[in-house]
Amino acid sequence: MTRKVSDNDMSALARLSTLVNSSLDLMAVLDNAMKYVEELMDAETSSIFEVDHERDELRFRLARGKWGSKAQEIRLSMGEGIAGRVAQEGKPIVVPDIEQDERFASRIDAHTGFKTRSIICVPIKHKGRLIGVLEVLNKRGGPFDEDDVELLTVVSNQIGIAMENARLYERLRARFTLTTEELKKTQQKVIQSERMVALARLSQGVAHEVRNPVMSIGGFAMRIKQKLPSDNPMHKYADIIIKETARLEKMVRDIEDYANMREPRFGEVNLKKLTKHALEDWKEKGGLANIEIQLDLPDDEATLPGDEGLLRVVLNNLFQNAAEAMANEGILSVVAYPEGKHVIIRVADTGRGIDPDKLPLIFDPFFTANTSGSGLGLTTVHRIVSEHGGEISVDSIPGEGTEFRIQLPLYPDDMQLSELEASQRRA
Ligand SMILES: Nc1ncnc2c1ncn2[C@@H]1O[C@H](COP(=O)(O)OP(=O)(O)OP(=O)(O)O)[C@@H](O)[C@H]1O
Ligand SMILES: [Mg+2]
Repeated sequence: MTRKVSDNDMSALARLSTLVNSSLDLMAVLDNAMKYVEELMDAETSSIFEVDHERDELRFRLARGKWGSKAQEIRLSMGEGIAGRVAQEGKPIVVPDIEQDERFASRIDAHTGFKTRSIICVPIKHKGRLIGVLEVLNKRGGPFDEDDVELLTVVSNQIGIAMENARLYERLRARFTLTTEELKKTQQKVIQSERMVALARLSQGVAHEVRNPVMSIGGFAMRIKQKLPSDNPMHKYADIIIKETARLEKMVRDIEDYANMREPRFGEVNLKKLTKHALEDWKEKGGLANIEIQLDLPDDEATLPGDEGLLRVVLNNLFQNAAEAMANEGILSVVAYPEGKHVIIRVADTGRGIDPDKLPLIFDPFFTANTSGSGLGLTTVHRIVSEHGGEISVDSIPGEGTEFRIQLPLYPDDMQLSELEASQRRA
């Protein structure tokens, strides 16, 4: 019995490729497709092999029939048996009588107990790349012929798309399936950043309310001081009011800056230039004093995706804190290097260090040990690093020094997702 591929067959086959959403679905789709092909060809059984390019082997992706589970244990090397030949040569092979063909690998039959009489086998390709091999065994009504090759080639194209879609889907899912541990970490991060946002909003409201009164108090204290005769003992009280209002004014400004901070605008940031510019900014503010700077940066071309302006703010805050902790005397070291899919930037100082019980609080808004600080520096640092998809951690030994470690992704998540989605659309 010979037959042409009908329109009906074609549309049933075309549906194959759209059905696949996971490897579980894929098995069901492949099984149904091959059952259908067996019925059309009136053949006994069929199998699909997948190429393992790393090991240069073929392994069963689907082996139908009661021999299937035994067959699954076997792997064929490239060139071995009919399937191995088809994989190696990339062309269909029809074997009308296995007894007459020495290419046949009898070890599968020996292992499974199945008796192969005839084979038709075609490659499965996707975008010209070999991904597997499809074979149908033992046609009942006569030998396999050219019509069968034509039908199987159409099926193998569709199966190729289905297998590739399932592979891409699995890759996407693996990327976005979080383990319980990761989920917990992410949840903590969300809580932490929500808490920061809520606090920032509250303080923005308060800052707005106190801004004008604080400025008036400061201004009037200054006037009072000017009006007082220089030997008046009230001078020192006026000085205290002026100093405290100046601190409050700085706090209001810091809160407003924090609240008005822009979203990152991503560009290509040169790591060496970033560090150089941040050090220059800091020097301009008079931050250097007696501090020795040690740099260990990657070559001139090393870049990362980010917002240079905001990353400069990050480094500046870390330099500023380091200088304060060293009382302007000591060693500040900046080290940057790529590590896997990230860039690591470490900023270390030889300052007074941070008590272990204070360590969990340092990124909180308004946590400060400095009389002149607002405690928003590290909150800002944390926010910018998070908005870059990165992480920041700290190690500190009281009396010896502190090191901040920033990890920034070379390929932020949404970039990877859109790349993957685009490649899936192209498939
Ligand atoms: N390198 C460091 N060494 C020792 N302590 C540090 C270091 N960096 C931060 N800290 C501690 O963490 C606190 C919080 O730092 P943060 O930068 O958020 O605020 P600040 O420096 O006090 O004030 P601001 O930066 O708003 O002017 C600091 O007051 C300090 O106690
Ligand atoms: Mg600070």
